[in-house]
Amino acid sequence: MKILVTGGAGYIGTHTCVELLEAGHEVIVIDNLYNANEQALHNVELITGKKLQFYNGDIADETVLQRIFEEHTIDCCIHFAGLKAVGESVVKPLEYYDNNISGTLCLMRVMGKYQVKNMIFSSSAAVYGNPAFVPITEECPKGICTNPYGWTKSMIEQILMDIYRADPSWNILLLRYFNPIGAHKSGMIGENPNGIPNNLMPYITQVAAGMRDHLGIFGNDYDTPDGTCIRDYIHVMDLARGHVKALEKIQKKDGLAIYNLGTGTGCSVLDVVRNFEQATGVKIAYTFEPRRAGDIAACYCDPSKAERELGWKAECDILEMCADAWKWQQSHPNGFADVQ
Ligand code: NAD
Ligand code: WQD
Repeated sequence: MKILVTGGAGYIGTHTCVELLEAGHEVIVIDNLYNANEQALHNVELITGKKLQFYNGDIADETVLQRIFEEHTIDCCIHFAGLKAVGESVVKPLEYYDNNISGTLCLMRVMGKYQVKNMIFSSSAAVYGNPAFVPITEECPKGICTNPYGWTKSMIEQILMDIYRADPSWNILLLRYFNPIGAHKSGMIGENPNGIPNNLMPYITQVAAGMRDHLGIFGNDYDTPDGTCIRDYIHVMDLARGHVKALEKIQKKDGLAIYNLGTGTGCSVLDVVRNFEQATGVKIAYTFEPRRAGDIAACYCDPSKAERELGWKAECDILEMCADAWKWQQSHPNGFADVQ
């Protein structure tokens, strides 16, 4: 298939491009490089030995989108493009609603105009808010999001559902990712956060690399076995493979569906620290800090619907996730600014 990957130069996008190319798909990427570096796409080509086509543009720019749809017969869009920093979204809500929602509206309009009605959307466990129950199934009601970023995901899901309801010739998959971490085995692509990382794994790898003094663990008084928060960490390559499986599902043309993409295994912050130490042999200094606003005690999924209906299951364990994150950090301490 010929796939338009929005946000394809980013963290999950590049890993998915690798899997798409290796599965024999043709890949067209649109990315405005707001949170990415074109070198990442060159590295995707080096890893796979295959070419992709890159458009440096914004999904809110109808002209560039139309050019893409004129120049290519696209079969499906995988839509990663969006702003994703939770804390920043609280400070800049307008930018987040505008970029994520207006961008998606523009994309859907142009897709509809060109009769490309196959869409795979990057949603998030954030739509469950503080989940009504764990493990979270897709039947778990959506919740009150704790930040504007989460609301953009929740609202875009609603928009896509309404578009489907109005025109059931669309095929739409809403993929709710849990906590993607790790990197491609080659160490040539990975997560490249700007400034102080917000997320746990990049913070840990920077402590391991000596770039930060110690990890602050946000809260050790939660109602969990060791008092630290529990999450469902998933290897980014497993997540990438989930998108290839989602494409097979899209080809069956059976409408709209929602899938949780996670491992189903909950890991506490202390579990992650211990597994990182075991996988790498590097000790992580940490202190306990107050709880972080908006954090919930436990968030992990029941991924059995994806296994049943997509034939997809996460395969990598937390040790492998840690080892691969560390390999990427060591080979690219300054991200893609480093000489390859
Ligand atoms: P990322 O920031 O690495 O990738 C997003 C890409 O989109 C970036 O390359 C950025 O430059 C691009 N982009 C942003 N706005 C754009 C626009 N208007 N036009 C064109 N390109 C634009 O993030 P990621 O971690 O790879 O996440 C990919 C998607 O998955 C996002 O939608 C994110 O919200 C979602 N998601 C991520 C996580 C996570 O923890 N990483 C979890 C759940 C869902
Ligand atoms: C994980 C755990 C922290 C940093 C976020 C988004 C979510 C989704 C995935 C996009 C928490 C703890 C972290 C640190 C710590 N993204 N932590 N010290 O918050 O589960 O999910 O990414 O959709 O919407 O909210 O991920 O990696 O920030 O935190 O103790 O320096 O690590 O408190 O328990 P989170 P995270």
